[in-house]
Amino acid sequence: MDLSTKYMGFDLPSPFMPGASPLADNLDTVKRLEDAGASAIVIRSLFQEELTQEEQHWQSNVRVHELSHPEARSYLPPTDMLKQGPEEYLEKVQRIRNAVKVPVIASLNGTTLGDWMEYAKRLHQAGAHGLELNVYRVVTDVKVSSDAVEQEMMNMLREVRRTVPIPVAVKLSPFFTALPHLANQLGRAGAQGLVLFNRFFQPDIDVENLEMVRKLHLSTSAELPLRLMWLGILHGRAGTDLCVSGGVHQPLDAVRAVMSGAAAIQVVSCLMRNGPDYLRVLREGLERWMGENGYESFKQLHGCMSLERCPDPAAFERANYIHMLNAPVVHE
Ligand SMILES: Cc1cc2nc3c(=O)[nH]c(=O)nc-3n(C[C@H](O)[C@H](O)[C@H](O)COP(=O)(O)O)c2cc1C
Repeated sequence: MDLSTKYMGFDLPSPFMPGASPLADNLDTVKRLEDAGASAIVIRSLFQEELTQEEQHWQSNVRVHELSHPEARSYLPPTDMLKQGPEEYLEKVQRIRNAVKVPVIASLNGTTLGDWMEYAKRLHQAGAHGLELNVYRVVTDVKVSSDAVEQEMMNMLREVRRTVPIPVAVKLSPFFTALPHLANQLGRAGAQGLVLFNRFFQPDIDVENLEMVRKLHLSTSAELPLRLMWLGILHGRAGTDLCVSGGVHQPLDAVRAVMSGAAAIQVVSCLMRNGPDYLRVLREGLERWMGENGYESFKQLHGCMSLERCPDPAAFERANYIHMLNAPVVHE
């Protein structure tokens, strides 16, 4: 079965790769991922806050995660090893680069232009084959417009593109008023991939102690349909490769994502639950399904149910919303 695909300009033998997360903090885990068929390794983010030394959001996220999923301890590094600064991050990129044959994608995570972005160059020098730029921004200021947010994002992308010759993908959130326009602009500005989507880690409320509760839950397949819709709408329109991130847990989830338009598939939660070897289960499951259903190559499957090509384009649009509300098929 030919699972080969092209993502960020890389010719990859299969679409599956671990998404940005602490999975790549442990070199043994990285090698197991490669053995299981990971076609690239995405490293967790280096955060603007880490580089400007304001805060370290990610550490608390990882600690909470470890508490709620003790089985993940066997393939994640101990928490004290995660107290890493930028220099350790660069060393890690170098170590992973030397340990695997697949492309290594580092991640820069921030919200505004600044000196911290010079790290793109250092990540390239450390051996990263590609960069993911994650613009995870929660706007709480009433004076900041959507246009200003998008312009800042474009400027950040241009700055990274100017700084390094390696391909750059942008990891987006789903919360944009006109995502196709933004995606197309990012494609024109040189994004060689769009990762759909960031998961927002919304705080909950402890009503008795009047505290905000920060808990990181792993995803389920329920998060996939939002991605499928936007993959389907953006396929062929963004001028860049699309990668799904969020809610791929079963081989059939991967089939749906590829049919919608994903050229690459990033997985984190399912690997944290089931271990790095689970990537092989996904890959072999996709192959098996394709064989059983008469597909010979990834290319045949890719985008066949996107807005451009599916037999029922109205399913993506307002007409479907009206139809669903007027003649609902309700699932409990
Ligand atoms: C413990 C943990 C750490 C993560 N760290 C990062 C990160 O550093 N940078 C990033 O862009 N995404 C990070 N993510 C988000 C994942 O890359 C991914 O987008 C998200 O988990 C959705 O994919 P999934 O449903 O396969 O888990 C993290 C997720 C988890 C669970």
